[in-house]
Amino acid sequence: MTFPPQDPTLPFGPEAIRAAAAVILDGGIVAVPTETVYGLAADATASEAVARIYAAKGRPSFNPLIVHVPDLTAALALADFDDDALALAHAFWPGPLTLVRPLKAGAGIASLVTAGLDTVAIRVPRHRAMQALLAETGRPLAAPSANASGGISPTRSPHVRASLGPGVPILDDGATEAGLESTIVFGRTILRPGPVTAAMLADVLGEVEQGPKAPAIVTAPGQLASHYAPRKALRLNVTEAAADEWLIGFGAVRGQDNLSESGDPVEAAARLFDALHRADASDRARLAVAPIPDGGIGEAINDRLRRAATR
Ligand code: TXA
Ligand code: MG
Repeated sequence: MTFPPQDPTLPFGPEAIRAAAAVILDGGIVAVPTETVYGLAADATASEAVARIYAAKGRPSFNPLIVHVPDLTAALALADFDDDALALAHAFWPGPLTLVRPLKAGAGIASLVTAGLDTVAIRVPRHRAMQALLAETGRPLAAPSANASGGISPTRSPHVRASLGPGVPILDDGATEAGLESTIVFGRTILRPGPVTAAMLADVLGEVEQGPKAPAIVTAPGQLASHYAPRKALRLNVTEAAADEWLIGFGAVRGQDNLSESGDPVEAAARLFDALHRADASDRARLAVAPIPDGGIGEAINDRLRRAATR
């Protein structure tokens, strides 16, 4: 089986995985779901393949990519792990945690992946499709979120198609589970909040530092303040919307859409980007979002919302 040229989308299954692996081993790119968001994957050891990711996303090339590997053993072949990093890997892999670690000499990762840095961001994903693609290709896979640079991260295959256009092959396995990009940790500092919360990290490390809150000065590559922007203006912490605003509600704040009527932040995280996509496509000129409490994964939701509101 190969990807049909008209609409190159295949549902998850053994044949789709073989087709996707063939594209990757041929130096191409494939959109593939992870438990966080859909990623745009290429062989991390092949610089031309990685260049295709940057080209498809229109991404500034100083923004380094996350490398996905099947397990900790594969991660140890690419980077140095200290005791903290090992503890985090044992606690949260496979899962939505990315560790920034010193790159090993001779790891074979294309320098375009790390944007020339001497560190590499690594993650062992849990999703069956990404795991199957890693097994079938036998390669570390570089994969940023599968959206045009600066756009909203995709949590369903139609988001990918709308953002990246008709040419990109998509392995479709429905909606992603967490709905927010992985937590990124460097040492004991959270560079990007995500599904693995500060409290979960502190349980393992004893203490963690919060990175700068978005919108912030760019301290690490890719921490562009405006990074998850819808096309329309967005107002935060809104309980009463104006007539021309599409209100994304939460809990008792109802709105045109609601992230979680029961006020569950995990459900809200899973639905956030889908809701932003819907809001952007609506007939209202502006967007508004209800207040989301800051605890746990609420931290990551509010991080993405602050970025989305920065234009
Ligand atoms: O959940 C996720 O992490 C998704 C899925 C596909 O795995 N991927 C994702 O990738 O969100 P991306 O490229 O959209 O975001 C990667 C972030 C960027 O902000 C980038 O700057 C940062 O990771 N990053 C990558 N390598 C880094 C490094 N060596 N040092 C600091 N930050 C790094
Ligand atoms: Mg992204």
